[in-house]
Amino acid sequence: MAAATPSLLILHPRLSLFAATLRPISLIHHQFSLQSPNPSRLCALFSHSKHHYSSISPLATATPLSADNSNVIETPRAGRSGSVSSPPHQVADYAQKIDVNPPKGTRDFPPEEMRLRNWLFDNFKEVSRLFGFEEVDYPVLESEALYIRKAGEEIRDQLYCFEDRGNRRVALRPELTPSLARLVIQKGKSVPLPIKWFAVGQCWRYERMTRGRRREHYQWNMDIIGVPHVTGEAELISSIVTFFKRIGITEKDVGFKISSRKVLQEVLGFYSVPEPLFAKACIIIDKMGKIPMEEIKKELKSIELSNEAIEDLLQVLSIKSLTELEEKLGGAGEAVSELKQLFSLAENFGYSDWIQFDASVVRGLAYYTGVVFEGFDREGKLRAICGGGRYDRLLSTFGGDDHPACGFGFGDAVIIELLKERGLLPELPLEVENIVCALDPNLQGAAARVASVLRGKGQCVDLVLENKPLKWVFKRAARINARRLILVGSAEWERGMVSVKILGTGEQYEVDVGELE
Ligand code: HAM
Repeated sequence: MAAATPSLLILHPRLSLFAATLRPISLIHHQFSLQSPNPSRLCALFSHSKHHYSSISPLATATPLSADNSNVIETPRAGRSGSVSSPPHQVADYAQKIDVNPPKGTRDFPPEEMRLRNWLFDNFKEVSRLFGFEEVDYPVLESEALYIRKAGEEIRDQLYCFEDRGNRRVALRPELTPSLARLVIQKGKSVPLPIKWFAVGQCWRYERMTRGRRREHYQWNMDIIGVPHVTGEAELISSIVTFFKRIGITEKDVGFKISSRKVLQEVLGFYSVPEPLFAKACIIIDKMGKIPMEEIKKELKSIELSNEAIEDLLQVLSIKSLTELEEKLGGAGEAVSELKQLFSLAENFGYSDWIQFDASVVRGLAYYTGVVFEGFDREGKLRAICGGGRYDRLLSTFGGDDHPACGFGFGDAVIIELLKERGLLPELPLEVENIVCALDPNLQGAAARVASVLRGKGQCVDLVLENKPLKWVFKRAARINARRLILVGSAEWERGMVSVKILGTGEQYEVDVGELE
């Protein structure tokens, strides 16, 4: 290492000067399948949604572009006859002013947002690995059939779906679980059980926008396939608690409400409600708190539940303690015994203070069959932070062999809102260790060499690519939080040396290029 040479500052006049310093499914489907669908229209429909559909409800009907798109030139339909394989509309050849905002409900990720997103995802991923899960991913575009379930879920009406140019009905994934089920079936016996997979992926739902609810969001999922016991759910909740702790969230900020769909099954079984109506009843019950109770009762009646069954069901759903539930249902059923096991495991994991029993939790997806849970903020300002449960029969609905399965989805939007609320957002400034600058335009090649030497040794380098005054270089060094400024000047370069300035202390020295670390 070369000795520090403070006199360098004076040798370089430049240096010394500044050294101080798509749309909802059912309706689109209808319209476009009934009248020889035209994806170019649908394409345009999505891209112009801000102008045409900004105030529509998720259930509004798709209508073709209105005549005011005067600069859109209709092109003749191409491709197979009767197909929808025409190219997107061509636009006029003259400049048109575009809307610089991303489509409603979607986000750009400029660098500072991207740093926050990466920080969050890194935490998701590190926790998943801590728990021995393997990362997977699936296409954002899936077959629409994956999401068509009969129970009348909200998610179905929120699908961004369309027909592709090969006449296939496809959808942007609104969740990851059906893709996981598809891949598990595809892999068959080649993957030994239990499967423990995690994924972080973008999901699309044509949602009504509220705080923390968007039309695209990223979801962290962890799923276990092949474990029939509540040890699976207990492990999953433990991983979420671990994640919360890592990012500074405590049991005073958030909790988990836990129940089991088997509670409802036992009540409905008592009234001999047929099995196919079970998922429908769950979807209706999940709307409690979102629509008036009278509506809930009306919907429950519409699936043939008697008044007596409805009243009993609602009474059970108001139970908030396991002891009370046991008094109501008796201790012999699976619901109570599994929940008791789960709460006992929570004690061993050390997260009892985070969880509470709440019979009203059923979750809004049709496929859950057992334990269900959701993470909530204790101040009650935000929507569910995460949600999951057991879905032992999803695979057979896709024609595969069933395996016991459980998992959760954890969105990126609500947690960021919560961190903001609690003043826990991390500071994530841009940090590039070194800034390298040629002091003479003829030395740009030499500076490139220096940058390459450092990068070869794993150092991050911001190479100044133009001949800039030193004032500019110092400003840039401050912006990127560089630790060292490396100046390539002709006198030093002739001796195979460069000047190094440690920006935090002002220390300066010359060093042989080969010895730069
Ligand atoms: P989910 O309850 O529909 O479950 O969503 C899980 C989480 O994703 C929510 O708790 C929320 O954090 C986030 N989320 C959902 N929709 C939005 C949205 N429009 N904007 C922002 N965040 C949103 C599922 O999706 C299941 N597939 C989870 C699962 C995995 N179950 C078993 N394995």
